[in-house]
Amino acid sequence: MDKSKIHPTLHVGSPNIGNRERFLRYVDEMFDRRWLTNRGTLVLEFEKRLAEYIGTKHCITTCNGTKGLEIAARALDLTGEVILPSFTFVATAHALQWQGIKPVFCDIDRDTYCIDPTQIERHITPETTGIVGVHLFSRPCDTQALQSIADKYGLKLLFDAAHAFGCSHHGQMIGNFGDCEVFSFHATKFFNSFEGGAIATNNDELAEKIRLMQDFGFREMDEVVHLGTNGKMTEVCAAMGLTNMDEIDSCRETNKRNYCAYKEGLAHIPGIKLIEYAPNELSNWHYAVVEVGDEYPLSRDELMIKLHEQNILARRYFWPGCHQMEPYKSAMEKVTVNLPTTKKVANRVLGLPMGNSITGDDIQRILLEMSI
Ligand SMILES: Cc1ncc(COP(=O)(O)O)c(C=O)c1O
Repeated sequence: MDKSKIHPTLHVGSPNIGNRERFLRYVDEMFDRRWLTNRGTLVLEFEKRLAEYIGTKHCITTCNGTKGLEIAARALDLTGEVILPSFTFVATAHALQWQGIKPVFCDIDRDTYCIDPTQIERHITPETTGIVGVHLFSRPCDTQALQSIADKYGLKLLFDAAHAFGCSHHGQMIGNFGDCEVFSFHATKFFNSFEGGAIATNNDELAEKIRLMQDFGFREMDEVVHLGTNGKMTEVCAAMGLTNMDEIDSCRETNKRNYCAYKEGLAHIPGIKLIEYAPNELSNWHYAVVEVGDEYPLSRDELMIKLHEQNILARRYFWPGCHQMEPYKSAMEKVTVNLPTTKKVANRVLGLPMGNSITGDDIQRILLEMSI
């Protein structure tokens, strides 16, 4: 029997969709203007609202987060080697490798799952030009420690903030740290523009370079003054972004309600530990990621299979770590890789369904399946 008929399929990153009428109004106006891309009215308005929201001087949209990372890396003149965590979505590493920069994988902090600042210095060589921190599962990196290391060695500091739109750290919105920060507005993220991304910075010169780079280096209609690519966001994506901007607070509240429901239910299941968010900071509460410990009767993979059989599509984010994926795995065959915390965490974590379409009843159903 088709199980999806009994229970709907539950996904980890089910898209948050704002007010449809408002979105369609934006799209109607866009058609009336006959302006579909090339930094139109909606993209410019979206960038203005993004910068206001996160409190940065600049926020430049891109067609997706990966392209944003690639452009940011180039604009920061990253070359040679760049240190980053292996425990991240593979796009963080690919964005560097794609342009001939060698990703050097560093271990993570046991509590936050973000890059461990105490492990970074041992990876620094004369070839190192930068550090990429990833605010994983909406939880910020130790930005101060990373900035101190970057300053000490004259390195650039870039943050992959794909998971952390709408979050704060030390009372300041994510987007304001390092040289620049890159968001992803992919459909699975807390805040989406179908596909999309943005680079936030308070550095005027860097912002100007990024703006040029994401539009083939065009300054004026016929004037190309820089090497560039096509990293532009379309108008329809900006329309979705603008629509969803009006829903940020309600999405946050729904996510928090869902997270709290998981937390309450999981407290009664020995061996399952849900990630924690700092109570005194703003979070988007978008990730219900658990660690499956030794006291739980099933391994993480056994639990995942059990949930999948019930159409609960929990994900092993981000197993097995980038260093175990190609092309990095083969490139590192002759090197001893020592990332014990990455290995341990990657083998234990499971992302549970989240997003605004997940209801309290869905969560009770998931909890029931997990309670054995
Ligand atoms: C940590 C991280 N970095 C980068 C990306 C890439 O973003 P995009 O899909 O918008 O290219 C993602 C997810 O998609 C991600 O999870």
